Amino acid sequence: MDKLLLIDDEEDVQYSFQRIFDSPEIHLTTAASGEEGLKLIPKVKPDLVIMDVRMGGITGLETLRRLRETNAKLPVIMMTAYGTTQTAIEAMKLGAYDYLLKPFDVPKLKEIVFGALKAARDMREVVSYEPLLDSEDYDLGIVGRSEPMQSVYKLIGQLATSDATALITGESGTGKELVARAIYNHSQRAEQPFIAINCAAIPENLLESELFGHERGAFTGAAERRIGKFEQCNFGTIFLDEIGDMSLTTQTKILRVLQSGTFERVGGNTPIQVDVRIIAATNKPLEAAVAKKEFREDLFYRLNVVRIQMPPLRERRDDIKLLAGYFLRKFARTHKQKAKSISKDALAALEAHVWPGNVRELENVIQRAHVVAKSDVVLMSELPPEVMAGSFPAKGATKTVAGAATSPTAAGVPLDVKTLGQTLFRWARNDPKLKIIPAVERELVIQALAECHGNQVQAAKLLGITRATLRKRVQKFGIKKELTIE
Ligand SMILES: Nc1ncnc2c1ncn2[C@@H]1O[C@H](COP(=O)(O)OP(=O)(O)OP(=O)(O)O)[C@@H](O)[C@H]1O
Ligand SMILES: [Mg+2]
Repeated sequence: MDKLLLIDDEEDVQYSFQRIFDSPEIHLTTAASGEEGLKLIPKVKPDLVIMDVRMGGITGLETLRRLRETNAKLPVIMMTAYGTTQTAIEAMKLGAYDYLLKPFDVPKLKEIVFGALKAARDMREVVSYEPLLDSEDYDLGIVGRSEPMQSVYKLIGQLATSDATALITGESGTGKELVARAIYNHSQRAEQPFIAINCAAIPENLLESELFGHERGAFTGAAERRIGKFEQCNFGTIFLDEIGDMSLTTQTKILRVLQSGTFERVGGNTPIQVDVRIIAATNKPLEAAVAKKEFREDLFYRLNVVRIQMPPLRERRDDIKLLAGYFLRKFARTHKQKAKSISKDALAALEAHVWPGNVRELENVIQRAHVVAKSDVVLMSELPPEVMAGSFPAKGATKTVAGAATSPTAAGVPLDVKTLGQTLFRWARNDPKLKIIPAVERELVIQALAECHGNQVQAAKLLGITRATLRKRVQKFGIKKELTIE
């Protein structure tokens, strides 16, 4: 549950907030003055404060200033009437998260409040990265004990004790955001704000103003000056997610911040000095973007000082069991139920799947399994078809048929080809629309490519077909480009 504290002396406003935020997920407390609000904060421990600028007693700005003396992180949204935007700017400089103009429009109010609550969660929920050995009582951890993850932990540790810029790369769903938050949580800036910005989600022309602010009249629609995230997040950490999608102009400004800590608001010419740590992430191959001149080479080198390359899940299959267990416990806790376990063949299927969507895909599969499983144990038949399709009988689950050809599977499990046939027929019987041969062929191509890290020559060799045939199959089956390297 998220806790909101509203500080406003107008009863009408208090009443509308109670109506707007009447939900079991939100707990609203109200205070009628700045003094009362400041007294309530240590007791209520709100996740977000929404405060009027003009009140009887101490003003909203003074309240914010006093609050910031003891708490740099608590997000505060200021409310001001039209025509007093100068105050709003002062508020942003004092570290307000955002401001709202009164009378406010409800969808906008909700958008800002939910955005601020997400930021509060990002700052509050500590992501632990120490290899979680036998402790089961963790809330938010980076799960995994495989070797590639051990290297990730080491780098997070090194980055946490320094102030260096970090670049986190890796396929979608591998945990880049989680790692960024772990670095922040363990850094010397943990008591200062953390703001995550998804560069791909904000239209190009707005991103620059979002990051650096703008002066009044800088562009059509810029009726007032606006303070950007860099100014607002001074002394804190900014997480630039999907930096590969940033325009070249914005890249130039980011480079300057990295080199000299300065920038100008859009349409302004006064240099502004800030002290902000930057952590960047992308799932795009930045080297290729540099080669195509879509990403500045100098910025790339500046960001690439410390690079954390997140391993895809298929390269750390040993962690799948651990992750599946972690997610089963997590969903059980959310629904206040007992955690389910996984049958042996279902686990083998999870371990053999290619996981193009990585940990996020596994999390979704487990969530679905938690919901559909009829008993305390998640069965193979309760997994989605694409996961079952990638599965083979588990070690020891089948007897080897005399004379049958055997060969190692992707997961290193001995494979009895005759039994495999039985498994596939069971699958076909469950799904009358399924064309078993092309489905199996598609899965084999995907697995071979994953096994060979996308190298088509090696994958074709492994499958015993020519590279030209492999390419035709990739096209025919619509296999995602990310899996192949030309
Ligand atoms: N090692 C891990 N342990 C536990 N949960 C993880 C791990 N890695 C990822 N997750 C979970 O998987 C989901 C995706 O992770 P995250 O958002 O960090 O991925 P990402 O690399 O930023 O993906 P994208 O490129 O799509 O933005 C999140 O719900 C996250 O909590
Ligand atoms: Mg992400």
